[in-house]
Amino acid sequence: MKILDGKVALVTGAAQGIGRAIALRLAREGADIAILDMDNAKMKAVADEVQSLGRKSTTFKADISGRDEVYAAIDHTENALGGFDIMVNNAGIAQVQPIADVTAKEAEQILKVNIEGVLWGIQAAAKKFHDRKQKGKIINAASIAGHDGFPMLGVYSATKFAVRALTQSAAQEYASDGITVNSYSPGIVGTDMWVEIDRRFAEITGAKVGETYKKYVDGIALGRAQTPEDVAAFVAFLAGPDSDYMTGQSPIIDGGIVYR
Ligand SMILES: NC(=O)c1ccc[n+]([C@@H]2O[C@H](COP(=O)([O-])OP(=O)(O)OC[C@H]3O[C@@H](n4cnc5c(N)ncnc54)[C@H](O)[C@@H]3O)[C@@H](O)[C@H]2O)c1
Repeated sequence: MKILDGKVALVTGAAQGIGRAIALRLAREGADIAILDMDNAKMKAVADEVQSLGRKSTTFKADISGRDEVYAAIDHTENALGGFDIMVNNAGIAQVQPIADVTAKEAEQILKVNIEGVLWGIQAAAKKFHDRKQKGKIINAASIAGHDGFPMLGVYSATKFAVRALTQSAAQEYASDGITVNSYSPGIVGTDMWVEIDRRFAEITGAKVGETYKKYVDGIALGRAQTPEDVAAFVAFLAGPDSDYMTGQSPIIDGGIVYR
């Protein structure tokens, strides 16, 4: 018996990086997986990997900043996989920009994806759990940047603080429905997101490509960058029964960068 046998999970931003690792880990724990992202070919590849683990999978192309699209994704998940138990609001974007230079368009874009995308994911998942008269788990991507503001990442940090706020509020509002809401706060994970963050730091500060990533990784107490699988292991705990008595929390799992 695996911890997620018989469960259905929807993972947003699961075409690559942390979301892909979460999809595969939850599948290994027994869950069937719906993959939401914006690139059909990449989603299909992850869906095939889930199936090769012996689980069912489906894909849904959507932009999480669109409220109706998120509701449609959850309906699709229920119809395609015959249930809905776990919502992982993982998709998000980074933005490296000194506060002095942030434009209205840039601010609007990241607030829409990182805050509204998670808001709609929480709201739509809780509504579906309620309609199905069942318990559920909602899990959101925060960050160490949701606990401390980082230079050049001010607006990104603000969106991740907001994810923690939504997590705390939703946990209290939905507790009586048997729904738990928690977040995960990774540190420096070697994904395409960091390739882009590093490239932007190089552009803005004149650092060499690779230098900013190395500087941050060198500061990690455990001496290595975090892998997507490190993150997925904690998300599996949040998705499973061992976290049933936990709600409203956004623990930092970062190898030792930010201490709370
Ligand atoms: N990489 C890190 O170091 C790190 C650290 C802490 C937190 N996080 C958070 O973890 C999450 C995943 O990060 P990652 O490193 O895997 O990033 P990534 O850029 O490698 O992957 C993100 C995925 O989300 C998808 N996505 C982006 N915007 C979307 C939208 N509007 N609608 C649907 N899908 C969308 C992308 O297509 C992509 O497949 C993000 O929320 C990120 O902020 C990452």
